[in-house]
Amino acid sequence: MKKIDEVAPRVLACTRCGLHLSRRNAVPGEGRGDAEIVLVGEAPGRTEDETGRPFVGRAGGLLDRALAEAGLDRSQVFITNAVKCRPPGNRRPTGEEVEACSVHLAEQLDAIRPRVIVALGAVASSLLKGCPTRVDSEPFAFRGIRVVPTYHPAAALHGNRMAVGRMVSTLRAAKEPTRGSC
Ligand code: URA
Repeated sequence: MKKIDEVAPRVLACTRCGLHLSRRNAVPGEGRGDAEIVLVGEAPGRTEDETGRPFVGRAGGLLDRALAEAGLDRSQVFITNAVKCRPPGNRRPTGEEVEACSVHLAEQLDAIRPRVIVALGAVASSLLKGCPTRVDSEPFAFRGIRVVPTYHPAAALHGNRMAVGRMVSTLRAAKEPTRGSC
C-alpha cells in the first residue's frame, strides 16, 4: 500500500475533534498519490459530507472550471482540505479543529511531496504558514514545499469577481515548473 493510501483510513476513523460527532462522512481527499500539485481547501460542505468527496458542490463546480481554464483537471492533482469533516452549518472551522486535523494534512503532504501546494483561502494558507495570512500574500514554504495562496472558490459565490480569475492564474503558474521554486 502506498503511504498516501494509509492516510484515508485514519481520517475516516478520526475522533480528534468534536466534528466527528456531526459528520456523515469524513472527506480525506482524493487524486494522484504522486501529484505535482496539491490543492488544499478549507473544510467539506454539505455535498462533500454526503458523498465523502472533496469539492463536489457549488464551490467544486467553480474549482473544476478554474482547473479547466488553467489546462488542468482533477486526474492530475490531489485535492484535500485543511479540515476533513464538515463544520455544522458550514461555519468556519475553529482554530482547535484546524489544529487537531493538521496531522492528517501533514501526513498527506509528506506522502505526496508535491512540487507546489495551492492553498485555497485564508484557512488553508494560515494553517500552512503557521500564522494568520491573506489569500493575496506572497508564496512561502511548508516543510520545503512551495505554497501559493489564492482565493477560495466560495469567494466567487459570495460575489468576489476577481476570485476565479485569480485562481486560474495561480493554477496556471503552479503548472509551470520553472516558476515553481521558492
Ligand atoms: N469548500 C471547501 O473548502 N472544501 C470542500 O471540499 C468544499 C467546499
